[in-house]
Amino acid sequence: MDFTQLISRRQSVRRYSDRPVESEKQDRLIEAVRLAPSACNAQPWSLLLVDEPTLRTEVAKASFGKVLSFNQFAVQAPLIAVLVIEPPPMTVRLGTLIKRRQLPLIDIGIAAAQLCLQAAELGLGSCMLGWFDEGKIKRLLNIPLRRRIGLLVTIGYAAPNYPLRNKQRKPATAMSSRNGYCIKA
Ligand SMILES: Cc1cc2nc3c(=O)[nH]c(=O)nc-3n(C[C@H](O)[C@H](O)[C@H](O)COP(=O)(O)O)c2cc1C
Repeated sequence: MDFTQLISRRQSVRRYSDRPVESEKQDRLIEAVRLAPSACNAQPWSLLLVDEPTLRTEVAKASFGKVLSFNQFAVQAPLIAVLVIEPPPMTVRLGTLIKRRQLPLIDIGIAAAQLCLQAAELGLGSCMLGWFDEGKIKRLLNIPLRRRIGLLVTIGYAAPNYPLRNKQRKPATAMSSRNGYCIKA
């Protein structure tokens, strides 16, 4: 699979088989995050992989509630990755303040993208989750209160016959321009 095929093959997978994710593949996922670029090479993240069934189910349940039930599929995923935002060094903190740029959040997004692309290359499905009960997950995983959780990512083998969907995206003309801002909404 070349890179162009990989980015079209990666999609959010919301149905999983119960086949566990092999530990060698988990190591490759860790490596994909470890090698991600970041502002000032601060690497302001830690990655927690949760595959112990009871704990994983509790973490998954913290990503939906009775009213907002859209993340219920998370309980099927045999592996949940939790990306924790770690404090960056002073240079990045100053840049964040002075330039009003949330650099660690950008870094976490890039790391999560690498994680999901690596998963796809290994034949695994994934889905980033930005909606979850942060306090509950911190308690479950002993994450210090002062840390923030950036994203959860469900990972696993897609359920049999899971369809490869067409990407619903804006046309290139609505999101790109050359030599100046010329975006037609
Ligand atoms: C930061 C972020 C947060 C997301 N949160 C959720 C979520 O809570 N639940 C969910 O089902 N999908 C979530 N998604 C997945 C998006 O809905 C999905 O990426 C988008 O619809 C494009 O579809 P695709 O990933 O299949 O290409 C999230 C994606 C990103 C990048």
